Amino acid sequence: MQPTSKKCQYFTDSVIRRMTRIAIEHDAINLAQGFPDFDPPKEITDRLAEIAPIGPHQYPITMGAPNFRQALAKKCGKYMGRTLDPETEIVVTIGSTEAMVDTIFALTNPGDKIAMFSPYFENYVAQAIMADCEPVFIPLVPPEFNFDPDVLEDVFKKGIKAILICNPSNPSGKVFTYDELKLIADLCIKYDVYAIMDEVYEHIIYPGHKHVYMNSLPGMWERTVSCSSMSKTYSITGWRLGYAIAPQPLMDKIKQFHDFNAVGAASPLMEAAIAGLELPDSYYDEFAAHYLHMKTIFTEGLDSIGIEYTDPQGAYFVLANIGQFLKKGQSDVEFCEEMAKKVGVACVPGTSFFKEDVNNIVRLHFAKKDETLYEALNRMADIKAKMA
Ligand SMILES: Cc1ncc(COP(=O)(O)O)c(C=O)c1O
Repeated sequence: MQPTSKKCQYFTDSVIRRMTRIAIEHDAINLAQGFPDFDPPKEITDRLAEIAPIGPHQYPITMGAPNFRQALAKKCGKYMGRTLDPETEIVVTIGSTEAMVDTIFALTNPGDKIAMFSPYFENYVAQAIMADCEPVFIPLVPPEFNFDPDVLEDVFKKGIKAILICNPSNPSGKVFTYDELKLIADLCIKYDVYAIMDEVYEHIIYPGHKHVYMNSLPGMWERTVSCSSMSKTYSITGWRLGYAIAPQPLMDKIKQFHDFNAVGAASPLMEAAIAGLELPDSYYDEFAAHYLHMKTIFTEGLDSIGIEYTDPQGAYFVLANIGQFLKKGQSDVEFCEEMAKKVGVACVPGTSFFKEDVNNIVRLHFAKKDETLYEALNRMADIKAKMA
């Protein structure tokens, strides 16, 4: 038999999604894979019920249903502060995941380097490798997750093709400031580098922080692709609806990859999700306030248990220090498996996110109903005894 792809040795299955399977096996509360257990906006589910008998049920236009793209252009254009052309600057994808893959394939050639901050969302390394690119890392230094501008420029000097930025960041919760983005933008222009933005948490921002769109910075529209999705903002992670926004010359190439990777996103779901895009501004304010409420419940609970964590500026994760519970020689992966089994709460080992050598960090998410969070905290209250 011929050998299978060499690339398979450079990444495993997703540890985040593996932890979901372990959570199900042990009936653990899944604070590993980030998805809510509360309902999406009623406007969206009502609309889905309405269109079930009438459709659309057949293949959509490859680039996304025109009315969905128009609604996206209106909503995203408003937040980005520019007029978006739904015909030439938007493609609808199977989650932001496909948008990222199409973008990486469209902008790079085999052997190109793609820079990313560490800790990073685990999809990125696999996506870079799938495109035969080499990931290059820039450390975000805890606890503030700042970066050193000199280290950043050294990475640009290595001849990178693109920089991939998750803003707000999974898993660190960092929200890049305008000044930080401007510094990165200036380097992108100086060294002729593309910015690939993963902005799925754009509406989950905590007080004192603000989401700035990289493509709104001077000189950056031409070289930025913004990938985002309906998953997090409308609590419909299972609908797999995402999109990329980019200037036409880049979008033309991204569309080519989308066409053959996906054919198109789900027609009835695009139709129903328009109801989400048409929600008033107050929806996004209430959405952010709800996340602040969940964050407060969860972090106060961790405080009372005595677990140290990073307080996120955005997104819905904390990185918790589990050093005090680790047995001698135990890896964080083993710890998380044991925790799902003995404590009944699933989390993700930090090694899935860090280029650096860490073994005492886990990621927990708090996108859950109050009662789920209280139950998880209750199960974790005597974690020391359970994990002894
Ligand atoms: C940073 C980040 N990007 C992308 C995704 C996937 O988004 P989608 O559901 O739109 O594919 C996730 C999901 O957890 C994420 O955390």
